[in-house]
Amino acid sequence: MTVAAPAARETGLAIRVHNLRKQYGETRAVDGISFEVRSGEVFGLLGPNGAGKTTTVEILEGLRAADSGEAMVLGIDANRNPETLKPRIGVALQTASLYPKLTVTEVLDLFRSFYGRRGHSTGELIERFDLTEKRTSQTRELSGGQRQRLVVALALVNDPELVFLDEPTTGLDPAARRSLWEVVLDLKRQGRTILLTTHYMEEAEVLCDRLAIMDHGRFLESGTVKELVGRHFQERAVRFDRIHGLADASLAAIDGVVSVAHENGEVVLYTRDVPRAIDGLLAAAGAAGTEPENLTIRRPTLEDVFLALTGRALRD
Ligand SMILES: Nc1ncnc2c1ncn2[C@@H]1O[C@H](COP(=O)(O)OP(=O)(O)O)[C@@H](O)[C@H]1O
Ligand SMILES: [Mg+2]
Repeated sequence: MTVAAPAARETGLAIRVHNLRKQYGETRAVDGISFEVRSGEVFGLLGPNGAGKTTTVEILEGLRAADSGEAMVLGIDANRNPETLKPRIGVALQTASLYPKLTVTEVLDLFRSFYGRRGHSTGELIERFDLTEKRTSQTRELSGGQRQRLVVALALVNDPELVFLDEPTTGLDPAARRSLWEVVLDLKRQGRTILLTTHYMEEAEVLCDRLAIMDHGRFLESGTVKELVGRHFQERAVRFDRIHGLADASLAAIDGVVSVAHENGEVVLYTRDVPRAIDGLLAAAGAAGTEPENLTIRRPTLEDVFLALTGRALRD
């Protein structure tokens, strides 16, 4: 007697990746990563350009073949059975090309026809993604935010339980980005599983239940935001504009300062004793004949974790 493998939903796992690799010539785009995504969670791949995010998600979507390793998606082997997988997932590609001369309604109708028009109606999708005003506009006339909302709407035409969103907000202004965050949180509330890639720390902090920081095809760390920050920092970050004539060595020598980093023209002192560190900083700046400008204190964020792991800031 054979026992059927439990469905993905029953095991609570939507994705299981083990030791996945993909190389282009000398470039190890994906260099032996392993992770699991639970049903109903938002999992993020956070990393700079070229980290290997798109290669990873496109392997999981069945669009690229891995060199080796395991990529199980909804209980289906994405490498061996991409055609079985595709109808069950939603995909918003980073480089999605929308038929520029078709209208919003026409493009949604077209994509729905690929899936036998099951799932949501075009009208429902237009309303839910706030595209009513634009339903008769050609896709080339859409703003960046409207275009991205349409790309995500198109990923939902087949009512998938698992949705891949590859850098859904890259290049959008802050308001459009926030409106897309609402869309993602809404999908999560509906119980869908989401694999999201981004190079925005704040986005990962707001949206992701768990995430992996990725660089050069590898995972540097993974876990919840709280775990990642807590693993690296019990310190507070004291930031100020760079001070001429005050070397890192003298900053590091300040009583209470654990380490010194630089971030976009600002200096960051990490300390467990903020008053003592600031006292020391004021004294050191005073000795250099100046005082710190734009002094702020904050809890460490993912930005600090990334800085500590890679030695560089992750910004646009
Ligand atoms: N089709 C391809 N041919 C050759 N190199 C590629 C290809 N796709 C990606 N790469 C390389 O693999 C690395 C990872 O790329 P990618 O997965 O697109 O990263 P990300 O999405 O994080 O920016 C980069 O060095 C990129 O140049
Ligand atoms: Mg990419």
